[in-house]
Amino acid sequence: MEKVALTTDVSTATSARAHERMSRRKNLAGLCAATVVCILLLYASQRYTANNYGTEYFRPRERTANQRILNSHKYYGSRSYGGPAGATSYDTYPPIAAVHNSTISIEDVLNYQRALIAASFDDASFGDGKLHSLTPETGGRPRRSLIITTWRSGSTFLGDILNALPGNYYHYEPLLDFDIVQIRGPPNDSVALHNLRHLLRCNYNEMENYLDFGRTHNYLFSHNTRLWQQCLRFPQFCYEPKFLGPFCQLFPLQSMKVVRLRAALVAPLLEDESLNVRVVLLIRDPRGSLQSRRHRVWCPDHPDCYDPATVCSDMQQDYEAAIDLSERFPKRFRVIRYEDLSLDPYGKTKEILDFYGLPFHPEVKAFLDTHTTQDIGGVSSTYRDSKTAPFHWTKELTFDYVKHVQDSCVSAMRNWGYRNATSERELYDNFNPLLEYRFS
Ligand SMILES: *[C@@H]1O[C@H](CO)[C@@H](O)[C@H](O)[C@H]1NC(C)=O
Ligand SMILES: *[C@@H]1O[C@H](CO)[C@@H](O)[C@H](O)[C@H]1NC(C)=O
Ligand SMILES: *[C@@H]1O[C@H](CO)[C@@H](O)[C@H](O)[C@H]1NC(C)=O
Repeated sequence: MEKVALTTDVSTATSARAHERMSRRKNLAGLCAATVVCILLLYASQRYTANNYGTEYFRPRERTANQRILNSHKYYGSRSYGGPAGATSYDTYPPIAAVHNSTISIEDVLNYQRALIAASFDDASFGDGKLHSLTPETGGRPRRSLIITTWRSGSTFLGDILNALPGNYYHYEPLLDFDIVQIRGPPNDSVALHNLRHLLRCNYNEMENYLDFGRTHNYLFSHNTRLWQQCLRFPQFCYEPKFLGPFCQLFPLQSMKVVRLRAALVAPLLEDESLNVRVVLLIRDPRGSLQSRRHRVWCPDHPDCYDPATVCSDMQQDYEAAIDLSERFPKRFRVIRYEDLSLDPYGKTKEILDFYGLPFHPEVKAFLDTHTTQDIGGVSSTYRDSKTAPFHWTKELTFDYVKHVQDSCVSAMRNWGYRNATSERELYDNFNPLLEYRFS
């Protein structure tokens, strides 16, 4: 009996030890797995940050660093194209509780948005401006702000600065459906200008190509955060001209950025007094934009995007157009280099807003506070320093490639004030690519 008991005891003890060993092994395996997952996540988030900074990031404004951390999953969960990138809004959206979804009408959504704009719009910061003198639906004249640029030149940054203003409606890249091409003249310029004019006037009729593209590519609308917020709730209305037109007309500020239309082609828009549009041409060092484009799968197969001679010929044409346009429309056309904006984000943003007739609103300041400095509340790794971001190419391109670009860009670089690098060593030694420059 005792013996049996002893044996049982021993065997129990043995099995317990075996069990313990096994569970320790399991723990170890679990720990290893967890470590691997952590490393992968860390790696992914770093890659993610490195590759997405620049002209494609989307980060909603948040009030405090803590809130940013609390909400950080929202960015990572939603930033990729196709996801609900506009899920977090610049404005505060209380739920529409009173109306049942199935009975909600376009009119209900418009009323709701109209109330939101009235509550968030800051009349006082617009000298002449009462809201109704600016909103198209009341026969007002909206402030129309257009950014003309090309791929990977800082336009998402500048576009989001404008979109931080309460009451802004953001026509994000209206020529997306043209694919990776530049529009320089006939035959496609007439369709392109048709689309731009229609959108600037909030007219979504005869825009089927554009709307069809949007139905299958969320990013056409998701950067337009105030629209996207309602699209997420009421997908049944999102691509309907009879919703989009009146919705757009609620907004006193209308901004647009275009990367596929060369500068000379905006002349007819500037000539049209009734449009009242102001245009900023945003320029970037071709070595910087080409370096950034290397990381985009959609770019290298297209010469308009990736061939230095083609890219720089467009830059040179833009220079000649800019001289003409700034003579003819001194109050409605101006030029800015991305590098100058990045080195002095507050000063240049004030200048640009002033040019557009827009206030340097606290929301804009809050946006710059969170998007231009490296060291904020423990999330520094996801926030790049705007002062170094435009110059990464100096460390990442080989001198051979830099020389190849420079040789293809002689007049464009001279005219836009970019300095040649003369050796690999010079590039690595805090190379300053900017020449003293004033566009006149
Ligand atoms: C642009 O023009 C070309 C003809 O040169 C045509 O093949 C192409 O379909 C046009 N693209 C658009 C989007 O209209
Ligand atoms: C409202 O109803 C439509 C179908 O009519 C549906 O697709 C949509 O997801 C609903 N929206 C919300 C917020 O429940
Ligand atoms: C830059 O280098 C090119 C040759 O690669 C030369 O033709 C051009 O004059 C140089 N530009 C300046 C401003 O020195």
